[in-house]
Amino acid sequence: MSLQLQILLLPIVVACYFIYRHLTSISLTKVQGPRSDSFFHGNFVDLLHSQSGEASGKWHAMYGNVVKVTGPFTQPLLLISDPAALKYIYQTSGYRFYRHRERGVISRLLSGKGLTGVEGPDHKRQRKVMLPAFGSAESKALLPMFSMAASKMIDKWNDIIQTSPDQTSVVNIHRWVSRAALDAIGHAAFDYEFGALDNDKTALAASYNNLFMDIFALPTKASLVFLSIAQYLPAEFSAFLIENSGSPRIQRVRSTFELSRQVARELVQRKSQAILDDGNTKARDVMSLIVKANASESPATSLSEDEMLAQLQIMILAGHETTANSFSWTIFELCRQPEIQTRLRREVREMELKVKARGDTSFTMNDIESMPYLNAVVKESLRFNPVAPITHRQANQDDVLPLSKPITLTNGKIVHELPIPKGTKIMASIHAYNRLPEIFGDDADSFNPDRWLNNGPHVDKGANVGLGVYANLFTFSGGQRSCIGWRFAVLELQVLLLETINEFEFSLAVPAEQVRREYCSVTVPVLQGQVDKGVQLPIRIKAASRDEF
Ligand code: HEM
Ligand SMILES: *[C@@H]1O[C@H](CO)[C@@H](O)[C@H](O)[C@H]1NC(C)=O
Repeated sequence: MSLQLQILLLPIVVACYFIYRHLTSISLTKVQGPRSDSFFHGNFVDLLHSQSGEASGKWHAMYGNVVKVTGPFTQPLLLISDPAALKYIYQTSGYRFYRHRERGVISRLLSGKGLTGVEGPDHKRQRKVMLPAFGSAESKALLPMFSMAASKMIDKWNDIIQTSPDQTSVVNIHRWVSRAALDAIGHAAFDYEFGALDNDKTALAASYNNLFMDIFALPTKASLVFLSIAQYLPAEFSAFLIENSGSPRIQRVRSTFELSRQVARELVQRKSQAILDDGNTKARDVMSLIVKANASESPATSLSEDEMLAQLQIMILAGHETTANSFSWTIFELCRQPEIQTRLRREVREMELKVKARGDTSFTMNDIESMPYLNAVVKESLRFNPVAPITHRQANQDDVLPLSKPITLTNGKIVHELPIPKGTKIMASIHAYNRLPEIFGDDADSFNPDRWLNNGPHVDKGANVGLGVYANLFTFSGGQRSCIGWRFAVLELQVLLLETINEFEFSLAVPAEQVRREYCSVTVPVLQGQVDKGVQLPIRIKAASRDEF
């Protein structure tokens, strides 16, 4: 065939291919959802520029638990809070749903090829290496480290209020807890002192300050368009484009990577020889596991040097910002409902009396587990303000989503399952799932720890779908890529909360309406009119009266 003929035939072949694809493909066009605002960015500006859970909550209320949202260039995405569909995607389907490719690129740029940056068999291997560090016994053993970080923060706050007029002061609670959590993960995972509570200017703490805001908050329309073009290009090329885009956001990602990689290298070097010499095959801390995996001969359980360092970078990042945000939102809710604070303080002090009576100076794991209201407040807080309101997945093949509740299509047809084409992008609506009235009750939209007491929410009455790893919430996700550190996080929150509430009374230093739930991959507190000042939650602290106890 002559070249000219081939060139002439090419468009016809291409056209036939697209017509064929169109006729045979499964289509999402009949799923209900908001009308697209623009060809270039669809509903994304609405979704990403409103507060966490705001746009998605509105759409779920209008269209149900499965909503078709339009992305840039008319690409349809499914926003899902349906329990059965989520369970299928995150658990039962195995590795059939990957994370979005663009997100993988950014995750790898930030922390390397560790747990959050790999897929399929690589992920399975890495997860197997890491899991033993995060069991129930391993997490409980961290209690003294979390208590130590809490005490240190409390000492600093006491110094502040004692030198302030009227013995009260306003602190940016988020910044403080972020530093306490960084120190805690240092001790817990690497036996290392980051010194972030002692010095706000340590390079590492400074680099993480406002990181998510700087990278993900309020994406420009141009960057949305750019990211959505990148997904149609070959993987290596799109990674190359993103890495070399010269955007200040990517520069920020790079400099954090360089710094955390350097810290990870130092941490490993300090420990590796001792761990390998020691020969203790039972050590299950993060550091021992990864150093031994790097030295392992067996490909099924080994980590490359690059992967080993990446795990440390991920632990440092995932292990502190998430907890810090959760704690900040907890204090926010307790300021809006001071009677919850008082009730919680009473429970803590009753337990404190018992602790002292038996001659102890600190709370044990058993004490913490026997404080129902503390546990209820922590669960309610994780439910009501999930740090990650949305996670992303993409179908690797044509698939069929099961549904807990049938949905009505735009043509009026009612379906009990939803076929989706390969490549379909999915956003799990964690925020919306955590507020489903069929699971959490008719008042699911209000912050009410009592729902967890006296038989708990509907979860205990047979609606448990077995989706999330903790308390039937989807806050820590579920299945093979669920949060590996959830036990760390729950215990750390419990300890921080009980220790601080015992010592201090908290009140909001700004009107509650001024606090925005800013969505930047995680949900952070910022102040209306001061978004440029970054993450902040100004809280007035004063010593909690001991008149009663
Ligand atoms: C309140 C605190 C926390 C919340 C709400 C949280 C939430 C989550 C969520 C939703 C995911 C899944 C992300 C996705 O599928 O795209 C995740 C993954 C992960 N989390 Fe957490 N997390 C918290 C604390 C922690 C802590 C303390 C650590 C480490 C000590 C940690 C380490 C990780 C890691 C390594 C992954 C990736 C797991 C994998 O892909 O196999 N997280 N987390
Ligand atoms: C990790 O493994 C590589 C390859 O075997 C080795 O060169 C390196 O020294 C190891 N790193 C550490 C910190 O043990």
